[in-house]
Amino acid sequence: IMDQKETLARSVNQDEEALKKISELINQAYGTYVIGCGTAGKVALTATYLFSKIAKKHVNFAFGSEFEVCKNFITKDSLIIAISQSGETADTIEAIEIAKSKGATIVSIVNVENSSIARMSDFCLPLKVGPEKAVASTKATTAQLAVLILLAYASINKINEGKQLLLSTSGKINDLLNPRYEDHILELAKNIYTVESMYIIGKGENYPMALESAIKLQEVSYIHAEGFAGGELKHGPLALISQDTPVIVLAPNDENFKHIISNAQEIKARGGYIIGISSINHDTFDYWIRVPEADIDSPIINIIPVQILSYHLALLKNNDPDMPRNLAKSVTVK
Ligand code: M6R
Repeated sequence: IMDQKETLARSVNQDEEALKKISELINQAYGTYVIGCGTAGKVALTATYLFSKIAKKHVNFAFGSEFEVCKNFITKDSLIIAISQSGETADTIEAIEIAKSKGATIVSIVNVENSSIARMSDFCLPLKVGPEKAVASTKATTAQLAVLILLAYASINKINEGKQLLLSTSGKINDLLNPRYEDHILELAKNIYTVESMYIIGKGENYPMALESAIKLQEVSYIHAEGFAGGELKHGPLALISQDTPVIVLAPNDENFKHIISNAQEIKARGGYIIGISSINHDTFDYWIRVPEADIDSPIINIIPVQILSYHLALLKNNDPDMPRNLAKSVTVK
């Protein structure tokens, strides 16, 4: 987690020629599909929001394990952008094989540069974050988000604008990762580590981050955690809220703020304990985790406090945060 002080800046340092070439492919493709599994899948889903907002472009999303459904739409003019830390995930590899059999072009965003996925790809953008040993993905996640933001800017010929934005994000992360900040999150962890369930809500590009937050919490704290789009609560999940149920609200100070706060108010009215992750405080928050002001980079900023919270919950519950039960770092079987 702490490596992210440096890793984000490293991931932004991509070969401009490769970025331009991949941008051309995105602009010419008969359908771009961003794919991945687990956390990389949540990042792939975030790409649909990032490309829409930054570049006004439509990209499709599928989990590697669910790519079969896209099979009938893939042609030799399709483009696949596969995201993977290890580059060895069997479900993602199988999806790439399907796409290759149709003649599609494969771009990958991977951390392990000599991995199977990197070798199967026509173009590869490396994450450059160094070995990620813990099972839970952290620094690879934020680097994947950064490379996708950069690629979205590149696709509208604004590489430098994207780079500047992400370098400023990297500076903001540096300010965030300090012992006082961690202590504030530890305090929260001590309040909630005995709960059975917790929920996370987000909107727009922070909706996939609510899903990713749930994976992070599940993996290392073993607390039942689920992420939702804030607007979906009233269609069912609101029934899960009872007195003191912790709910993390990802609330960047953007056009979605008032909507997600209104969702938080609905939860609070049912007794929920609201943990706001935001650059601004709000009277709905029972516990405020302050994050720096962010723009389209808010998914990168917002996931970091959740990573720290998950880590401390794991320690408080005597779980091994590096090697959670039942999981492997790289899932090489179907
Ligand atoms: O190596 P990959 O990025 O392809 O791995 C995909 C998932 O197995 C992985 O992201 C998993 O969900 C993480 N353990 C989550 O922290």
